[in-house]
Parts: sequence; C-alpha cells; structure tokens
Amino acid sequence: MNQELFDYPLQDAEGITCTASAWAKVPSPLSASEKTETIQAIKASLKAQNAVLVAHYYVDSDIQDLAWETGGLVADSLEMARFGKNHPAQKLIVAGVKFMGESAKILSPEKTVLMPDLDATCSLDLGCPAEDFGKFCDAHPDREVVVYANTSAAVKARADWMVTSSCALAIVHHLKEQGKKILWAPDRHLGRYIQDQTGADMLLWEGHCIVHDEFKGIELAQLKEKHPSALVLVHPESPANVVELADVVGSTSAMIKAVVEGHAKEYIVATDKGILHRMRQLAPGKTLIEAPTAGNSATCKSCAHCPWMAMNGLAGILNCLTHQTGEINIEPTLGKQAKVCIDRMLNFTTEHPELLAKAQHGFVKNIGSA
Ligand code: 13P
Ligand code: SF4
Repeated sequence: MNQELFDYPLQDAEGITCTASAWAKVPSPLSASEKTETIQAIKASLKAQNAVLVAHYYVDSDIQDLAWETGGLVADSLEMARFGKNHPAQKLIVAGVKFMGESAKILSPEKTVLMPDLDATCSLDLGCPAEDFGKFCDAHPDREVVVYANTSAAVKARADWMVTSSCALAIVHHLKEQGKKILWAPDRHLGRYIQDQTGADMLLWEGHCIVHDEFKGIELAQLKEKHPSALVLVHPESPANVVELADVVGSTSAMIKAVVEGHAKEYIVATDKGILHRMRQLAPGKTLIEAPTAGNSATCKSCAHCPWMAMNGLAGILNCLTHQTGEINIEPTLGKQAKVCIDRMLNFTTEHPELLAKAQHGFVKNIGSA
C-alpha cells in the first residue's frame, strides 16, 4: 500500500486556523481472477452472516455494484444513515469514511458495524477536534449548534442539530424563522452558501473538504465557454466562486437526480469523481465532464477523488467480514448524547417533506426539488 500525506485546515477554540496533515493509503489493485474470487467470497459471507453492505457514491465502482447486487444500498450520507437504521440486518458493512460508520452505530447501537479500514477519515472531521469545538461552543452559548454529518461522535454529542447537504438549507431556514442564531461547523464553504441563501446569522468554523476545495472557478468558467449548453452541477462543499457558476447546487443525490432528469445532453460535474459511476448507470446517454481542479494526474493531491474514500477496497471488505475487524465502537453514554442531534434531523426530514422540497428548490435551481 502507498501512503501519502494530505494537508487540511485545523481550527482551535479561539478560532485560529493552522495547517495540519494526515495520511491516506491506497489498497493494492487486485488481478481479474483475484477480484472475481473476492467478490464471490464477499457475497457468500454477507449471506452467511446476514449482513448488508451500505456504500457511499464516492467509493470504488466494484463496491457500489456489489452493494446493489447483494440487496444493500449506495447513497448519500443522509440515506446511508436512514437505511442502516431501518434495515433488519444485525450487521452493517459500511464502505465510506469513519463518520458514516459512526453515524450507523449511533443510530443502531445494538447492531455490529464493520468498516474495511477504520483509518478512512475526512478532512472536515479531522479539522474540528471535539475539545476545541466544545470550548468554542462554550464561548457562544447564545447560538444553536448545527454540525455537518462529517464530524466525530464527540462533536455531535455537543450539537443541537446534525445536518447533511441534503437537508442543511431546510433546517437552517427553519431555525432562522424561529429567530435562532447559529454556530455552524465544520465546512466553511457549505456554511457560507447556506448563510447567503437563508440570510441566517451564522458563526462559521473554518474547516474545508480537501477534495471540493480544489475546484477552480476561472478554469470552470473557461470550460463552460467550451460547452455552452452543458449544465454545471456543484456540491456545496466547493468554494464560492465555483458555486456561483452552478446551474444546480446540491448533495450527491441531488446531483444524480439533476443528470437523470435534466434536459441537457452535457453535464459538468464538480464533486468526487466516484459519483460518475452511478450517473453513467442511471443516465447512459448523457455526457459527463469532470470540473477542473488544480491537476489531474492519478497521484496528485487535487484529482477530485477523496483519498480516504479510496481506502475502501474489496479485499478490505472481505477481511472485515472474515476476521470481524474494523468494528465501530462508541461509548454508550456518548452515543446517546450524539444520537439526539441525528434523531432531530431524521425526524425533521420525515415530518417536513414540504420544507425540504421548498429549500431544495433553491438548491436544485433548474430541475425543481430533489
Ligand atoms: P453527501 O451528504 O452529499 O453524500 O456528501 C458527503 C460527503 O462527504 C461529501 O464530500
Ligand atoms: Fe470528507 Fe471531502 Fe472526503 Fe467527503 S470528499 S469524506 S468531505 S474529505
């Protein structure tokens, strides 16, 4: 396995940000015969153990196909959390990054949650350490604490609300209507976008996603000129000058919906390139163009593919099923505290589909609600 270091912004309790770095590693590729054998063995183990595979749109396409073929799910982080909670299987195999496995465990403490590699993290989670975040919250007791799903269980335990990019706009809009001031963490780009859209009073933590932060506005404008009829789809973790050029701003599932339902032939996609697999499956006749980042070689640090999502491999999935490794454990009291903000989000999204649709109409400008 090759290890590589990645820089990310780390904020402290006083609001001062520095640069820290974390490593990621890429699983060794499998030969065609190894791949076939591994897939067969995973299918047999899932069945024998009554386990279900839940994957994010950014993971390897073989893992996505395997999840669908075995009755599991490939989805955005909101639907992954909901599916894991509602599925009858007592064992969940989560292919994604650590906060996704933690959310599954918090929602279903009685279930076993395994991940192929527990070191698969997220720059947003790393950039928001619980102790500093707690002190920051203490310094602003007049604010409702709203955190993005991409955070640790300890940060969620301190929050009033958890949101994902599918429901953040609706929930912040709802809080603003109630006259609440908000402390938002950790993604500053998503926070600023929501602030602009809702006019809410939001104090922002200064984290960012190292993948989406690399999309470039000037190069995107040039690409748009070359493809004047293409629709531009942007995940709101991207910088403001990229979001400004978007026809559609939304979560991973909203972006997929835009490709499937949009009338355009060409789409410029500004998010992790892992999503292209699902888009190609659901909209085979459409042309998908990757939005520009600072570079595009396989080893660069801005290749629009999350280095931690890339740590999920078929061999890792088989390994965790065979040896029961990569288990997510959360201290029960902490889990109960963290569950409050997740339940609040799940209840809100179930009880207020009309508010979600209304807010998403703003998110998904050209195709209606997603
Ligand atoms: P979604 O909630 O849109 O799936 O995003 C999760 C994520 O980590 C994006 O980088
Ligand atoms: Fe985190 Fe960005 Fe990777 Fe998503 S793509 S898991 S936000 S680092």
